Amino acid sequence: MTYTENVFCIGLFILGVLTVHSQRALITTMPDELNVLSDSCLQIPCAFEIPNIYSSDFNKSTNISGVWLKGATNFGNNPSIVIFNSSETDSTYQGQIIGNLFKKNCTTVFYNVKNSYTDKYFFRIDTNGPYRATDTYKQIEIFVQDVPPIPTMTDSVEVKEGTPVSLNCSAVAPCPEHPPKLTWTLPTKSTPEEQLQENPDQTKSVVSMVTFTPSYLQNKKNITCTAVYPVGTSYETAEITRTLNVLFSPKDTSASISPSVPVSVGSCVNLTCSSTANPPVTNYTWFRISEGKPTQVSFTQNYTLNVTVEDGGLYYCEATNDVGFQSSKEVLLPIKGQDKPVSLLVYGIVGGFSVIMLIVILIAFFGWKRKPRFPEQLERTDNHLEQNSVYDNQDIVKGKTEEQAEDQSEEIHYGEIDFSKQRPKETPAVAKDRDQGQESEYSEVKVTRR
Ligand SMILES: *[C@@H]1O[C@H](CO)[C@@H](O)[C@H](O)[C@H]1NC(C)=O
Ligand SMILES: *[C@@H]1O[C@H](CO)[C@@H](O)[C@H](O)[C@H]1NC(C)=O
Ligand SMILES: *[C@@H]1O[C@H](CO)[C@@H](O)[C@H](O)[C@H]1NC(C)=O
Ligand SMILES: *[C@@H]1O[C@H](CO)[C@@H](O)[C@H](O)[C@H]1NC(C)=O
Ligand SMILES: *[C@@H]1O[C@H](CO)[C@@H](O)[C@H](O)[C@H]1NC(C)=O
Ligand SMILES: *[C@@H]1O[C@H](CO)[C@@H](O)[C@H](O)[C@H]1NC(C)=O
Ligand SMILES: *[C@@H]1O[C@H](CO)[C@@H](O)[C@H](O)[C@H]1NC(C)=O
Ligand SMILES: *[C@@H]1O[C@H](CO)[C@@H](O)[C@H](O)[C@H]1NC(C)=O
Ligand SMILES: *[C@@H]1O[C@H](CO)[C@@H](O)[C@H](O)[C@H]1NC(C)=O
Ligand SMILES: *[C@@H]1O[C@H](CO)[C@@H](O)[C@H](O)[C@H]1NC(C)=O
Repeated sequence: MTYTENVFCIGLFILGVLTVHSQRALITTMPDELNVLSDSCLQIPCAFEIPNIYSSDFNKSTNISGVWLKGATNFGNNPSIVIFNSSETDSTYQGQIIGNLFKKNCTTVFYNVKNSYTDKYFFRIDTNGPYRATDTYKQIEIFVQDVPPIPTMTDSVEVKEGTPVSLNCSAVAPCPEHPPKLTWTLPTKSTPEEQLQENPDQTKSVVSMVTFTPSYLQNKKNITCTAVYPVGTSYETAEITRTLNVLFSPKDTSASISPSVPVSVGSCVNLTCSSTANPPVTNYTWFRISEGKPTQVSFTQNYTLNVTVEDGGLYYCEATNDVGFQSSKEVLLPIKGQDKPVSLLVYGIVGGFSVIMLIVILIAFFGWKRKPRFPEQLERTDNHLEQNSVYDNQDIVKGKTEEQAEDQSEEIHYGEIDFSKQRPKETPAVAKDRDQGQESEYSEVKVTRR
């Protein structure tokens, strides 16, 4: 009879004063259950305590045997349930107690685990002294499986574009001698850091951490972590996939106008704003540029206009979500028989730039010879220009000789002055005709020089 059994019998006869714990001669600590892969190894983290009344007996012993019992504790009737005895070499299960029993560490490894090992197990200690006990109150359940468990990945519920994010993938390592290898499939390059970690119940896990900075292009892309378990001479894999949810401010915001050809007053025009964003755009705003300043004209994605005379001009839209906002490029709403401010502006800039370039080039070529004459000429042609600038420019077109090219430089220069000086004073109607004239003049300048 063991101590446990003695105490248990006495406990039955003494009326209800003994607590369960006072009856335990051996108190083991181990996980409640373990999932393991067949053909792999299994490490059971195990420690034990011995109540004070028994510990002197335990301390006297010089030989300690760690014993595992399968399915039940009554090995007296059924010796086959003793599947492992650390003092015997011919145990049913191939294994080893790697913990130091004298230090109350009963950590055990079983090798070549078979599916038939699935069961509950009890731990027992036999010494060469009087101390012998089974912990009948604590069992561990072993589940042997053919496929490895699926790794776990940290829920990166939402990640923000441009903000570094770290993801952990964790795979249990029931056989820490042959831990699984973790590999990542990521939409971006990253170097994972892997380490073997101890869980609170002393079992081991392999944890791999990757850090990367997501871009909005990676939204909805999959991330996969694959665990490769060595099994015998082969391997088994298990993987987990997560879809990235990258929050980003509106991108590719563009404004379009339908129809895109000049429309007549009184007809309908659709201004459409498009954008991609996560979370989706909550707020579209349409602006019209009037007198150089943007004015809000609509808070809808699609802005339908019944065109009036004043509606022509430049428009843009702005898309907003929780993360930020983005403005589109400007688009022109052209109205039949009306000004084209955009093209005018563009031609003005291009023309002005060409003129400045010409002047620079011509000054570089001729300025040095003509230096004394230059200020005088400026004054003269300035007056000339006010009288008839169009003729001047027609002259330029015809100009072929060096002398004429020189004049050209002067006159083009005045053309530019004229543009900046006169424009603000003009009424739109006058400006239209005048500007169109200038527009063609500038075009001619370009043609002439190239
Ligand atoms: C048995 O040994 C442990 C240390 O190994 C000690 O803490 C304990 O007090 C000893 N028990 C007795 C009854 O001597
Ligand atoms: C302890 O057990 C081993 C075999 O497991 C045996 O050879 C040795 O004699 C034993 N020692 C004592 C003191 O019982
Ligand atoms: C384990 O082996 C030891 C040494 O051979 C023996 O004294 C002990 O009774 C065995 N335990 C069981 C439960 O068979
Ligand atoms: C028990 O022994 C194992 C194997 O040597 C070791 O990894 C573990 O840390 C030990 N446990 C304690 C509580 O010392
Ligand atoms: C990932 O694991 C590392 C240790 O490997 C830990 O320091 C970190 O807190 C973990 N991160 C998350 C999000 O769990
Ligand atoms: C991403 O993973 C899901 C399952 O998690 C799958 O249905 C989907 O096809 C995958 N997408 C891509 C692009 O691989
Ligand atoms: C403008 O949109 C409305 C409905 O959204 C559609 O019926 C109409 O044909 C569109 N007009 C143009 C010019 O695209
Ligand atoms: C635009 O408005 C004018 C005047 O309010 C109306 O006569 C015309 O039918 C409208 N055009 C459209 C396409 O709704
Ligand atoms: C939409 O955005 C504009 C400016 O971007 C703001 O004035 C307006 O209040 C917003 N509307 C809503 C419903 O959030
Ligand atoms: C705006 O128009 C686009 C394209 O015509 C359409 O896909 C979208 O659903 C419309 N949006 C609203 C709010 O009507």
